[in-house]
Amino acid sequence: MSQDTKKQRAAAAAIEHVRAGTVIGVGTGSTVNFFIDALGAMPSRIAGAVSSSEASTQRLRALGIPVLDLNSVDGLDLYVDGADEATRRLHLIKGGGAALTREKIVAAASRCFVCIVDEAKVVAELGRFPLPVEVIPMARSYVARELRRLGGEPSWREGVVTDNGGHILDVRGLRIADPVALEREINQVAGVVTCGLFARRGADLLIVGTDSGVQTLEPSGR
Ligand code: 5RP
Repeated sequence: MSQDTKKQRAAAAAIEHVRAGTVIGVGTGSTVNFFIDALGAMPSRIAGAVSSSEASTQRLRALGIPVLDLNSVDGLDLYVDGADEATRRLHLIKGGGAALTREKIVAAASRCFVCIVDEAKVVAELGRFPLPVEVIPMARSYVARELRRLGGEPSWREGVVTDNGGHILDVRGLRIADPVALEREINQVAGVVTCGLFARRGADLLIVGTDSGVQTLEPSGR
């Protein structure tokens, strides 16, 4: 079975958490694209979405789903987004699509974060996927030196400018034994907008698309 079919399964299962008439948060990426398409096909529509990227905004609008500013809503009940890696404690690496900062903001503003992935994304320890870090452009070299000091090997994702005007460093080789502590440490470096570790505010539910259907995980031992 293809990875896309597993992503589609996870996305379809997330639709069951959506209540008609509400405003929900919507993330970014190929898995979320399946979710957006399923939202468009819902017979009872949602009132609107707060989007984590220009790409998702365009896709939502093309399906006639209103996109609202986060400042115009009083928090969100639900946020649905993908991930590049996820553990059974529902800690995540995100940012493969460079939308990590807005994703982290919408996740923080949401009461329930449902993460949708295919089974290849579930890992025992985060870190094989290079950790994306969004930086203010003038701080890129300084932040890279600080990340080396933490044991990582950063490389600049050249040519990519985020929706916020930031640059992305992808960091290989980090040992992420304590994702909450490392998220805090990286986010404290001057010039870092945010890193792609979603551990302090991880997911509340992980829906994994597999060969045989979907598996739903709640955080264990967080
Ligand atoms: C974008 C993200 C995505 O959620 C992550 O990259 C997963 O993408 P995909 O569903 O295409 O594998 O964090 O910034």
